Amino acid sequence: MTKITFIDHEGASRTIDAQDGATVMETAVRNGVPGIEAECGGACACATCHVYVDEAWKAKVGEPASMEEDMLDFAYDVRPTSRLSCQIKVKPELDGLVVHTPERQA
Ligand code: FES
Repeated sequence: MTKITFIDHEGASRTIDAQDGATVMETAVRNGVPGIEAECGGACACATCHVYVDEAWKAKVGEPASMEEDMLDFAYDVRPTSRLSCQIKVKPELDGLVVHTPERQA
């Protein structure tokens, strides 16, 4: 199991056992993590699954693909660490990953 920690904008954190192969968005939705709406269901077409990858994990998670980058333009308060969580696949290398959920989505 790969552990992912979600920290909300007020600093409340929750660590979840994520299924490898699922996305970070699916992990959040299945576990009722607030702040991730995922309106399009993971099709990279809504930007309501926007998260900030923790600075320490940015390189390991990698850069968004160009389609994701285009969609991120619709997210609110985009930062250099912004990613769409439906485009991040859970894998053993990401064990311990920390993502921050934004105060509001798009
Ligand atoms: Fe819609 Fe990620 S769930 S872009």
